[in-house]
Amino acid sequence: MTASSSSHATVLTVLNLKGGVGKTHTTWLLASVSHERGKRLLAIDTDPQGNLTNSFLRDGEKTPGVERLLDPSTDADVHSLIRRTQYPTIDIIPASSAVVRFDLSDQRAWEQADLHRSFVEPVNELRDRYDLIVFDCPPRLSLTSFAALCASDFVIVPLEAADWGAQGIMQVTAAIDYVRSRFNRRLQLLGYLVSRFKRRRAYQQSYLSQLRAHFGPKTFDTVIPDLAQFERSVTDAVLIYPACPGQFRGPYRP
Ligand SMILES: Nc1ncnc2c1ncn2[C@@H]1O[C@H](COP(=O)(O)OP(=O)(O)O)[C@@H](O)[C@H]1O
Ligand SMILES: [Mg+2]
Repeated sequence: MTASSSSHATVLTVLNLKGGVGKTHTTWLLASVSHERGKRLLAIDTDPQGNLTNSFLRDGEKTPGVERLLDPSTDADVHSLIRRTQYPTIDIIPASSAVVRFDLSDQRAWEQADLHRSFVEPVNELRDRYDLIVFDCPPRLSLTSFAALCASDFVIVPLEAADWGAQGIMQVTAAIDYVRSRFNRRLQLLGYLVSRFKRRRAYQQSYLSQLRAHFGPKTFDTVIPDLAQFERSVTDAVLIYPACPGQFRGPYRP
């Protein structure tokens, strides 16, 4: 995948209804690869847990953040919500528990109030500043995830090579179809990305084969290996460079 042009960002949503499947790690990896290639990336954290925010802004203030874009009583200037990180090519709009009260779960209510479009204009305003804009989502189809889909070009669904039938994949694809038909014609599923892959476990190899048989080319060739080093890189807020030998052996093709 490449950004459509150096002055017009591609916008991606990273979404799965299950927690702990590697959404935030996928976003981190995208940030790492973008940084390595000198591409400008804006991460928009929409998960009130703020895991991505906490890695990038270790000691900084977490508000104001993305909640301002969802608050119908304010007309926030998106530029004022952008924070620099320690990496010159990576910026972030943070999330924190302040998002909770705006992350509605009643779809009818948010559609009536037009809140699902909250990110569309802000993102379009920023497309010229970045190569890639990535939404890291919470593990549910609440307002923040829907709003991210409405503002995105593509969706990546990370999942573990375990019971993918139970990971809410069908609800995610139904939501993508719904958003595409109603609000955002350009939205496409880019693919399913197997994360935390344990290559030595036969059952994981077998699930990967099943997934490829079922979803065909929508399953990425690349998988993200389960590596303590990767986990540490997010915890310690040090980007990883997959191409750097000895530091990180993946992503790879098993
Ligand atoms: N590739 C990986 N290798 C090792 N551990 C991982 C990997 N991806 C995720 N993890 C572990 O799984 C946890 C959940 O990952 P995370 O990206 O936060 O998931 P999500 O955002 O989907 O909730 C992390 O805290 C980390 O411990
Ligand atoms: Mg997460």
